[in-house]
Amino acid sequence: MAMLLSYHLSRLAKLSIAGTITFWCIALIVYFHPARLTTLAHIEKPSDISQTPKIPEKIWYKVGPKGQNDQAREWMEDCLRKNPAYRSEILTDHTAELFVKEHFAFRPDIIETYFALPLPIHQADFLRYLILFIEGGIWFDLDVSCEDTPISDWIPSEFKDEANLLVGWEFDVGWGERVFRQIQTWTVMAVPRSRHLLRVIDDIVDAVRESQDGDMVNADVVDFTGPRRFTRGVFKSLELAINGTIDYHGISHLLAPRLIGDVVLMPGYSFSASVNKYDAGDVVGPSLVKHHYAGSWKNQYGGEMP
Ligand SMILES: *[C@@H]1O[C@H](CO)[C@@H](O)[C@H](O)[C@H]1NC(C)=O
Repeated sequence: MAMLLSYHLSRLAKLSIAGTITFWCIALIVYFHPARLTTLAHIEKPSDISQTPKIPEKIWYKVGPKGQNDQAREWMEDCLRKNPAYRSEILTDHTAELFVKEHFAFRPDIIETYFALPLPIHQADFLRYLILFIEGGIWFDLDVSCEDTPISDWIPSEFKDEANLLVGWEFDVGWGERVFRQIQTWTVMAVPRSRHLLRVIDDIVDAVRESQDGDMVNADVVDFTGPRRFTRGVFKSLELAINGTIDYHGISHLLAPRLIGDVVLMPGYSFSASVNKYDAGDVVGPSLVKHHYAGSWKNQYGGEMP
């Protein structure tokens, strides 16, 4: 009996020593776990944080009821092949609605606006501002194909720390002086929560609220939700942000990327090479995407290709 007892006691003692050792081993492993060490390093060296891109490496697409045709799929696959670090998401009418309802529960007026917009193209316009505001990343229309410069190299390195939004002229050179210089919206890149995008969103909310029956259907889409709306909103917001006025003369006939506040404005040749007419020698940078004007905002397919 006594032997049995002492046997049990010594086993207990061994178990408890083993338990203590195990406990401290786990504690040490947890304490010096690489993830924790990385976190500590980040806290100690804030500059390391800038290694993670501010603008999420994600490309957003939206398809209509007909889905994606072969040509659009080819362009999309080519862009993803050229940018292997990028993820992509293709929203449908249904998932777009879910996205809006889910992410804008805190702004019911935005949800109401989305559902009040009468034309698919209005919603497609509005949706890109909403997605980029919530998630950030890069919006591509379906009729955009990538050229050879990787997306991660689009923002000039000297602007990377500041840049929260990247846009490009649609019409800038070769349209005379009286043209309304508009920023294209088929390719827009943003950090989440850009105040400039919120300005555009709020402007559309206001415009819808102020519309009478029929106004919206008859409005010029480019003006109501499209590139002109976007251009006015971004510049208005920028002027507020920099507490000054933008020198429009200084940013027209743009031949190199320009940083204005936290917005990088790209020349017409970057996203819209085919519709700007430069003098020989003026184009000093690459075309980044090609816009195929396949759908056009005027058609009955909501800006999609038929
Ligand atoms: C904005 O600029 C005006 C005049 O240039 C100046 O009086 C004002 O204090 C500025 N506001 C802020 C918030 O910097």
